[in-house]
Amino acid sequence: MSPFQLTRTLAEDAMEAALRADVRHGLTRTPKELPPKWFYDARGSELFDEITRLPEYYPTRAEREILIARAPEIAAATGARTLVELGSGSSEKTRHLIDALLPGLEVYVPVDVSESALRGAGEALVAERPGLRVHALLSDFTQGIELPETAGPRLVAFLGGTIGNLLPAERREFLRGVRGVLAPGDSLLLGTDLVKVEATLVAAYDDAAGVTAAFNKNVLAVVDRELGADANPDDFDHVARWDRENEWIEMRLRARQALTVKIPELDLLVPFEAGEELRTEVSAKFRQDGVRDELADAGFSLACWWTDTAGRFALSLAAVG
Ligand code: SAH
Ligand code: TRP
Repeated sequence: MSPFQLTRTLAEDAMEAALRADVRHGLTRTPKELPPKWFYDARGSELFDEITRLPEYYPTRAEREILIARAPEIAAATGARTLVELGSGSSEKTRHLIDALLPGLEVYVPVDVSESALRGAGEALVAERPGLRVHALLSDFTQGIELPETAGPRLVAFLGGTIGNLLPAERREFLRGVRGVLAPGDSLLLGTDLVKVEATLVAAYDDAAGVTAAFNKNVLAVVDRELGADANPDDFDHVARWDRENEWIEMRLRARQALTVKIPELDLLVPFEAGEELRTEVSAKFRQDGVRDELADAGFSLACWWTDTAGRFALSLAAVG
């Protein structure tokens, strides 16, 4: 058997149906809104990788620093024989964890909605690490998690602060779902970006080179390609705003003038007023107490809390129970 295997738990037509439902629902409500998972086609995954290398985007570097420092402790504490990673993307930082877990690690299970990201990362990993098995799941982690039968103990990693892209009620359901597929002795490793001064946060989501703006607008390219729509990315401005009440960054696309987007495949006309905004993503920022409480609510107990030396980002190791 090839050491790289990909299972699609999401049928292509189910993905397409979900996109249609999300676009119809999100663009006919007020305020307009689209869920963030539609950013990540092949181009979106590439643009996100570029974001992780931007000088303003500190979360990736901060989380990598923690992973490099703590991977041996994580390996010793968890003894994981299966590593599952939700929203794995390029799996770039995960290499540090994988190398610390080998040789006891039997299988790495990256889970993502981006097939190009899963194939690129998985094939590179098995080529570089003989003996490692990679079983990728093309799957939407907000639609319930189903894991292959693999050896325990299991460690589920959810890195990059991606948990912050879920709204509080969605996080609750998500964390309870993760708990549901784990057993006593399994663990969760959770990356969370931390609350900090507004200027640093806003710059991370509105970089000088305009890569985040291109990434944000890529959701329009996806709707155009998949649903035959005629949204012109140049008609919209990228907006990143700090919401201090909710402690999240909100990403929006703002119509530069009044316009109508035609979506033939949905038989839908979507009018925008001049200055009207479409919310494309939130990125919540956390504090230790909040993380501990959300974990406890889902049936996890916080065992370790590590930050980078500058205190910008945290990695939590949580135990079941
Ligand atoms: N973990 C990586 C990538 C973070 S970007 C890092 O830390 O750098 C978020 C990743 O989650 C992307 O690869 C995206 O394709 C994936 N993703 C977003 N929503 C998803 C969903 N609902 N189900 C599965 N994967 C999702
Ligand atoms: N998980 C990343 C984060 O919240 C995703 C992300 C980074 C993102 N930059 C973005 C999503 C810009 C949309 C737009 O930091």
